[in-house]
Amino acid sequence: MDYTNSRLVIETTKIEPGSVSWRSPSNIALIKYWGKHGRQLPQNPSFSFTLDQAFSETTLEYTTKTGADQGIALEFLFEGKENDAFREKVKKYLESITDIFPFLRQFNLKIRSSNSFPHSAGIASSASGMSALALCLCSLEYELFGTLEDDLAFRKKASYVARLGSGSACRSIYAKAAIWGDNPEVEAASDLYAIPYWEEIDPVFHSFHDDILIVNKSEKKVSSRAGHGLMEGNVYAEDRYRQARQRFRQLIGALKKGDLETFGRITEGEALTLHAMMMASPTPYLLLHPNTINIIQRLQDYRATSGQPIYFTLDAGPNPHILYPDSIAREAQQFIRGELSEFCVDWIEDQVGEGPLQLEEN
Ligand code: PMV
Repeated sequence: MDYTNSRLVIETTKIEPGSVSWRSPSNIALIKYWGKHGRQLPQNPSFSFTLDQAFSETTLEYTTKTGADQGIALEFLFEGKENDAFREKVKKYLESITDIFPFLRQFNLKIRSSNSFPHSAGIASSASGMSALALCLCSLEYELFGTLEDDLAFRKKASYVARLGSGSACRSIYAKAAIWGDNPEVEAASDLYAIPYWEEIDPVFHSFHDDILIVNKSEKKVSSRAGHGLMEGNVYAEDRYRQARQRFRQLIGALKKGDLETFGRITEGEALTLHAMMMASPTPYLLLHPNTINIIQRLQDYRATSGQPIYFTLDAGPNPHILYPDSIAREAQQFIRGELSEFCVDWIEDQVGEGPLQLEEN
């Protein structure tokens, strides 16, 4: 499938200035995407929960250009302030997708973006930010050309376009849970875009909690982009991809059955393997913090003594995500406040959410 489309150009400069806005959430992977090839294609399938409270809001404003300049004309405001580093990154991204949206060269663009969580909270904002931007681009296409009327077609393209900005962003397009990456278990899945995946899974997961415990707010020392790159020289890479495919199959089985124990074992295994890959890369590095380990140990002790189905996962950073079903929310939150909060500087009480939302003009 290819979204290259040279016909998506406007033939008049009389288009009224306008804007489109989306709120899009972050997501947390249970089977991790770590290692890529080609144009942002994953080495293995991944599965994620879509979050609710951790989101980005992005507005894309456009006015037609009067001059003949063929470049991308972009102003970028992050949390109300001009941000040159983000502007350069987004400009490069927009340039890279002008084969999909050639009309982008015909406008003066202004993007305003903000996050519901503090920028320096150590939470990856690329999934929420890039998915919000991709949704804005598809809405702009719809407004200009009347294409993408069908919701599924709209989301599929938004997911494809988000993937080109940040791989994990392609999974944020859907409510509750998503799969990205070809695999034998789920026929509709693709390496090119994510698909929604919640109707098939046990309802216990539809209202799962994810409390993000922030042990360290600083920007991580090694970016995800560099991390993916380091998988290329990692001696364990092929075994890791094989393991991820196997765990993916097992996780899908556990999700369908509502098997929390298998879910937890695989989820925690994935978190630790992700960090093990970093430690075993050709240029080894460590993103864990002593309090990450303290939290993991307290959590596992609590689970062993209480028997409660409470588990952790990690993103490419030191901040644990604590996962538990809604049925034990009271006990779990009491435990987190009582025993884990001393190890963190902040936390976000999040849960599985309903996916992106188009915002009215503001
Ligand atoms: O989307 P990227 O390139 O920022 O990579 C994200 C990778 C992980 O967050 C570590 C795992 C995942 O699948 O989301």
